[in-house]
Amino acid sequence: MMIIITNPPEKLSGEAAMPGDKSISHRAAVIGALAHGTTEVQGFLRGEDCLATIRCLKALGVELHFVRGKLIIRGRGRHLASPGEAPLLDAGNSGTTARLLMGLLAGQRFGAILTGDSSLQRRPMERVAAPLRLMGANIEGDGSRLPLRIKGGKLKPIHYKMPVASAQVKSALLLAGLFAAGETVIEEPAPSRNHTELMLTQFGAAVCVEGSRISIRGEAELKGCTVKVPGDISAAAFFLAAGCIVPGAEIWLRDVGVNPTRAGIIDLLKEMGADIQVQNRRMWGREAVADLLVKGGAPLRGVAVGGEIIPNIIDEIPALAVVAAYAQGETIIRDAGELRVKESDRIAALAGELGKMGARIEELPDGLRIRGGSPLCGAVVESHGDHRIAMALAVAGLAAKGDTAVRHASVINISFPGFMETLRRLTL
Ligand code: S3P
Repeated sequence: MMIIITNPPEKLSGEAAMPGDKSISHRAAVIGALAHGTTEVQGFLRGEDCLATIRCLKALGVELHFVRGKLIIRGRGRHLASPGEAPLLDAGNSGTTARLLMGLLAGQRFGAILTGDSSLQRRPMERVAAPLRLMGANIEGDGSRLPLRIKGGKLKPIHYKMPVASAQVKSALLLAGLFAAGETVIEEPAPSRNHTELMLTQFGAAVCVEGSRISIRGEAELKGCTVKVPGDISAAAFFLAAGCIVPGAEIWLRDVGVNPTRAGIIDLLKEMGADIQVQNRRMWGREAVADLLVKGGAPLRGVAVGGEIIPNIIDEIPALAVVAAYAQGETIIRDAGELRVKESDRIAALAGELGKMGARIEELPDGLRIRGGSPLCGAVVESHGDHRIAMALAVAGLAAKGDTAVRHASVINISFPGFMETLRRLTL
């Protein structure tokens, strides 16, 4: 599928509904599956990634179904059912599915084979496999890549210093820690999203966080809960970016998750001069939500970003790069080498595709240098099979001169089904 953005929209205003948070949706399905009793999830993201998690959990004997828009999970407790004759679990394009399931499978009494699409088969898995092996899991295959055969076993708790700040690795180890007798301790080099810690606590696990040290007491019985999933800040980031770069835009984004480990993009865009208001901040369970209002036309300037904030904004860098291309002056993004092992090499993809639109953008080994302020021109650009690249390019096209065509854009359904309709409605 190709999407065409004709510019410039005469109007970009109104309210845009955001899809449920992808990270929180995955966690609700997995943790609900491991709990006793029923879990009811409101606002579960029905994007392809989260549907892959549901399919894998179904193959492991968990009953999950949608009733009037809510996902109902009949948890099995920690021990799931063997996939039997069909032990192949397909995570599709979803790194979160693969890595969370690795943690969960490590504690089971059976073996299963985990695989994914060609993009996921290129992504690093050793970062999860290595600590899981230390806990006693038996992981066969080229440990660094899918497909992998994971044979659960009796796990022992470990004290593990993570070499990369990754919420997926941390979450996999916390899930495996549920199966180990005693306390599993994880130290992270920089703060990463903490949804797993918050949700496990909500479900009754004993999770303790002291600075960068997170511990979980194993063999806990989880109890099914009601989870209300906030709107995804990573999806909202594309509309914040659109609102910033289109003069006269005025967009309301309601009920968006603003968990402090995720909301760094808001402060960063404000630092660039964007007019964004955060209103009606409140809690949905343990997660913070707010209504966001972005207004276009404020002068934007470049920014330097790197260090500990990077894990907080890692998924928003494609949107940030687009705003930077329209801002005066230079933006430098450093310490973001992880972008090279996402659904695509996002550093190369952004430099290549925004470059085709005339942006002055240069690849750095661990980031990007963008000299903003010169007008972009519409072009035929490529998603690289990456949902966030496709959305970033569509947003870039909104303020470019001439038409932009984004090729292979159906991947947007990975995280934001209805993205184009949502965008179009703002222009009517
Ligand atoms: C995610 C963590 C991040 C992020 C991904 C979702 C999660 O990945 O980029 O989109 O839900 O835990 P890493 O853990 O690889 O940093």
